[in-house]
Amino acid sequence: MSVLLCIETSCDDTSAAVVDTGAEPAAIRSSIVSSQHEFHAVFGGVVPEVASRRHTELLVGAVADALDEAGATWDDLDGLAVTTGPGLIGALLVGLAAAKALAYARRLPLTPVDHLQGHLAAGYALGVEAPFVSLTASGGHTLLSVVERGVEFRVIGRTLDDAAGEAFDKGARLLGLPYPGGRELDLLAATGDPAAVTFPRSLPRGFDFSFSGLKTALLYYLREHPGEAAGEARRASIAASYQEAIVDQLVSKTVRCAEREGLRRVAVGGGVAANSRLRRRLAAACEERGLEAFIPPVALCTDNAAMVGLAAAHLAAVPWPDYLGLDAYASEPALNALRRRS
Ligand code: KG4
Ligand code: ZN
Repeated sequence: MSVLLCIETSCDDTSAAVVDTGAEPAAIRSSIVSSQHEFHAVFGGVVPEVASRRHTELLVGAVADALDEAGATWDDLDGLAVTTGPGLIGALLVGLAAAKALAYARRLPLTPVDHLQGHLAAGYALGVEAPFVSLTASGGHTLLSVVERGVEFRVIGRTLDDAAGEAFDKGARLLGLPYPGGRELDLLAATGDPAAVTFPRSLPRGFDFSFSGLKTALLYYLREHPGEAAGEARRASIAASYQEAIVDQLVSKTVRCAEREGLRRVAVGGGVAANSRLRRRLAAACEERGLEAFIPPVALCTDNAAMVGLAAAHLAAVPWPDYLGLDAYASEPALNALRRRS
């Protein structure tokens, strides 16, 4: 199998892509992302029902655009791939139902892809080779893992409370920034001094992450220094300091993991990997230690369907029409099993 039409609708981005998995490394022939941000901004966050409805409206156009941009027709496709979870269940079901219907009508196979595996496969666009250390940081997950082969991974650390993306979004909200907060905080922090405020760095031992204390520290800081966030320059420095505390945690544990595991390659994925400070700091930390950093372009870090194809290249396709019984899932089965054990 080589040319795949890929669909990703796990949250608020309606995405379709054409990926040639026969090429080495897999080649992204097109990638369309129809962001719904403006529809959710008035609510200050993603409204699941609104997301599902917008996916139904936007997906057909996104698929047509993905084929167009790739210069492909339906006859050129060897299969489809779709994100089946974790994510917003209604949103996932729209993508899955569409993928099933299109694959069934064309008598094509369908590959179900886990959203986390999609994010960690983004590094394959840059030619990373397993085994490698993977940091996947998004709005729902913060996962440090070793990718052993393909998209099979061993969990090394995860967040004990909020995800890194949630820490960005909650911090942004406290600073009065509009939704979606992570990117806004990144932009504001660009002109600030990251050493202006010392936020707590008390980290969980080992390779797990924790961000909820940091968010509380920002809340108290703003309460104790009323008026500071009103001045644009000071607000930028508070944002930069807060961002630095998140980035410190992510970068230090990721490079330490590579050293402990004796691995030389490090890849990142997930919306937080779009953060400009994280990208710079991780690249520098890897260079210092002689590690090779694979930092995909921003468009491959935030939700997109091309990464679904990159992951599908390493997964088994379900033959026509056996996939009709496939279901979507809201939470991560592998991580839930792990949580139950601990
Ligand atoms: O991977 P993603 O697009 O969707 C999920 O799977 O959650 O990640 C979204 C998260 C949000 O929390 C968003 O604020 C964060 O990624 N994000 C950023 C940046 N761009 C997106 N966080 C920090 N800096 C950015 N530039
Ligand atoms: Zn994501």
